[in-house]
Amino acid sequence: MEINGKTKIYGIIGNPIEHTLSPLMHGMFADAAGLDMVYVPFHVADGQLEAALRGAYGLNICGMNVTVPYKNAVIPYLTEVDQRAAAAGAVNTLVRDAREDREGFIGYNTDMNGLWRAMKEEGISLEGKEVIILGAGGAGRAAAFLCANSGVKKVYLLNRDAAKAEEVAAKVNETLSRYGKDCVSAMALAAYPKLLTGAAHRYIVIQCTSVGLTPKAEAAVLEDGDFYRSVKFAYDLIYTPWETKFMKLVTANGGTAFNGLKMLLYQGVDAFECWTGTKVGKETADKVYQKLKERLYV
Ligand code: ATR
Repeated sequence: MEINGKTKIYGIIGNPIEHTLSPLMHGMFADAAGLDMVYVPFHVADGQLEAALRGAYGLNICGMNVTVPYKNAVIPYLTEVDQRAAAAGAVNTLVRDAREDREGFIGYNTDMNGLWRAMKEEGISLEGKEVIILGAGGAGRAAAFLCANSGVKKVYLLNRDAAKAEEVAAKVNETLSRYGKDCVSAMALAAYPKLLTGAAHRYIVIQCTSVGLTPKAEAAVLEDGDFYRSVKFAYDLIYTPWETKFMKLVTANGGTAFNGLKMLLYQGVDAFECWTGTKVGKETADKVYQKLKERLYV
């Protein structure tokens, strides 16, 4: 592809940004759709976020992804934040604001929809289910909003620091009060045995802590087999290694486990569709998924 004066520029901002797979993904989506666009990684140093956004707007950049550590920090510098992204307190996708009187970007969160689409593709529905979320950091908070929005029966939000889980649960319950005040219950991680009184394999579990991430792949946030026997489906947001210790424990105890690679894929698909209005076909999505696998695990 030849870059010329009409080529649309997209990108991703983060720090560090060296290992991002998003340019690979968006390059493949653009090729498949025949769109004249490029997607560039931008390393934004500490303290340069506001300047980077102003510069990006000034340079006519059409859209950007936002990754660690700016998903929350970017919010004050946007012209508008989509309701769901605001509720989750995290923005990962910026769309250039087309309104004449606004100079900047509108923020969205495609991580949540990415997780929803990934689960759907695996045949997992959240509706009417009891869900355990492990971790109440940025990812856990977004997962809690997704679950509460997807008609779950109950969410148990477990965190090592119980106060943080309480805070997130209160926020979700308040924002989504139509589901009832007690849709999300906060608990200390150590209190998990309280959840094990019912039938085996009753829960969907979403693993949102950083425990088990390469290079510390031998760790799992919980080790107790009794916990894992209560799990029917589990989704670990981690995708390196391919199979986390958490996933191995789920499988060893009769449950089905998935890693976070499809979520990574679908948050990208969602962002691409949001920017370009062009749907990513299943065949392209599958091809990109295979390519991501090759890059990550060979
Ligand atoms: P992210 O945005 O990826 O969610 P984060 O906001 O830093 O990252 O959150 C990391 C999560 O992993 C938190 O839920 C954290 O628990 P605390 O809030 O109690 O710190 C969890 N976590 C990290 N290391 C952990 C460990 N060794 N055991 C249990 N939970 C851990």
